[in-house]
Amino acid sequence: MTTEITIELDINGRSETLTLDPRVTLLDALREHLGLTGTKKGCDQGQCGACTVHVDGARVLSCLTLAAQAAGRPVTTIEGLSAPGGELHPVQAAFLEHDAFQCGYCTPGQIMSAVACIREGHAGSDEEIREYMAGNLCRCGAYPHIVAAVRQAAEMAS
Ligand code: FES
Ligand code: FES
Repeated sequence: MTTEITIELDINGRSETLTLDPRVTLLDALREHLGLTGTKKGCDQGQCGACTVHVDGARVLSCLTLAAQAAGRPVTTIEGLSAPGGELHPVQAAFLEHDAFQCGYCTPGQIMSAVACIREGHAGSDEEIREYMAGNLCRCGAYPHIVAAVRQAAEMAS
């Protein structure tokens, strides 16, 4: 039997106290303990990018990150990306404008990766966008639209 631990998570600017098994991933803490189901579970083994969130402003795969590793560090999920009034983040708006999704399952992870990719200065060309978004798979093959959306959002941000 594993002893549970109590941790403080900073999720989208809100402090959340959770008591859980130390082996619980950040992904499961978000989805199962906090009801934040915008972050998706695809492969659950670090290969699809559907679970991408930001920790300390950098993208991480939440299925490979323990919730305890994120304790006390700012975590942003897709639910925290829009403005407090509900206005979409420019990357979200660009995805809508460019029809950059079909089933939508990969989309939260794509958007979180794109935001970081632009912020890191890795969205200077379609090639660069493809390279730095390569960890985010899309079973529906919406890649050309995703790249177009990221390019537009990057141009608006520069
Ligand atoms: S669910 Fe985390 S990388 Fe696939
Ligand atoms: S839109 Fe369906 S997996 Fe990407």
